[in-house]
Amino acid sequence: MDRIRIVGGNPLNGVIPISGAKNAALPLMIASLLTDRTVTLENLPRLADVSLLVRILSNHGVDYSIDGRRQGEEQDAGQTVHMTAREIVDTVAPYELVSRMRASFWVVAPLLARCGEARVSLPGGCAIGTRPVDLLLMALERLGASIEIDAGYVVAKAHKGLRGAEVTFPKVTVGGTHVALMAAALAQGTTVLHNAAREPEVLDLADLLVKMGARIRGAGQSVIEIDGVARLNGAKHRVLPDRIEAGTYAMAAAMTGGDVMLQGAKAEHLKAALDALEQSGATVDASEEGLRIRRNGGPIRPVDISTAPFPGFPTDLQAQFMALMTRAKGVSRITETIFENRFMHVQELARFGAQIRLEGDSAIVEGRPVLKGAPVMATDLRASVSLVIAALAAEGESMVQRVYHLDRGFEALERKLSRCGADVTRISSGD
Ligand code: EPU
Repeated sequence: MDRIRIVGGNPLNGVIPISGAKNAALPLMIASLLTDRTVTLENLPRLADVSLLVRILSNHGVDYSIDGRRQGEEQDAGQTVHMTAREIVDTVAPYELVSRMRASFWVVAPLLARCGEARVSLPGGCAIGTRPVDLLLMALERLGASIEIDAGYVVAKAHKGLRGAEVTFPKVTVGGTHVALMAAALAQGTTVLHNAAREPEVLDLADLLVKMGARIRGAGQSVIEIDGVARLNGAKHRVLPDRIEAGTYAMAAAMTGGDVMLQGAKAEHLKAALDALEQSGATVDASEEGLRIRRNGGPIRPVDISTAPFPGFPTDLQAQFMALMTRAKGVSRITETIFENRFMHVQELARFGAQIRLEGDSAIVEGRPVLKGAPVMATDLRASVSLVIAALAAEGESMVQRVYHLDRGFEALERKLSRCGADVTRISSGD
């Protein structure tokens, strides 16, 4: 298993190109199952989750090809992948695959909409909480599917096709909205989604579906209307920039007291996080090129945040913001409202000398002027990158174990950080 060695203390200075968003790429790739034509996705990040999903989709019958590197193209530039599901050869998504990546459960929607049936393993819990799929199944049932659970699998059937319906989500769910959008795109009649997720990744999926011929109004708002069509076409689409990657490096820059340009990042995707960063004493400048984040000299001020669905403060940046607050001059309260168990990083941050106390769904962080490097262990993707941020600012050496979590969601992390002056080295298991 690879490890990452970090010697902290260097401010980050330079340019970090922001990759395509993992959480947009996954539903966009899954949408290729909806048509027998070719869906071309540009700017796909080179991530373990993307490679795994390509394998999962190919089991269902998706042929794919990846464009080679072009003249003058950077080593880390996003990939262009062509995906064609001419024929669906298997409507079963087995436990071995779905348990490795929860988002692959979402194949249930296009398989059901296109083939009238799907048998997809329940994903099970994960490090950040129980993460049920009841609302995804509720949406499919509202659209006329029959749903049964059999030996750990969801068996969804709609042999006469799906029908448009009113779907009201009692709680905002990103996955539920993705699934409902894909299913409704091929249903007969009109579907109205109430309390839909407004995350930019939902809008990105809707944009691709519209290019494929879907009729969708209101994506990006909480009420979305979809007029179903009989078939969808191929399309070409560029994956939007990863707001969570951008937010992560923004916090790293603020933490180390540096000056970075996050190339391609969009301020409108990150408003709540940028507001919190500014309150903490960082300077944020948005331009055509991206976002420039600076903190020169001044102290980190404590800021209270509470996670919420978009446009609120993203749960996927909670751990990273907590890392920043461990060095604030004062006490901050960080409240997690989306996932019940997303504080696994607290114990590991404590290994750097951070002072954090849990109170129900909140963490009370008492900032310390100095963190000390330590060996730490990653537990999930966002938790592990919070440890990287803390290590960048800690005195001395840290070793981050279980780096495979980072590889799921951060493209070329060591290269991007090293280019900005950080002392970061990957130690491969063979070394
Ligand atoms: N929920 C239910 N029932 C459901 C679905 C969701 O109770 O049927 C609950 C969840 O347990 C949670 C809340 O609703 O409490 C929100 O969950 P949501 O469905 O929005 O999450 P998701 O679609 O499973 C995506 C991202 C997560 C991100 C969340 C919230 C992807 C692949 N995953 O998950 O990203 O934290 O939205 O923004 O898009 C990550 O990238 O590290 C990650 C965990």
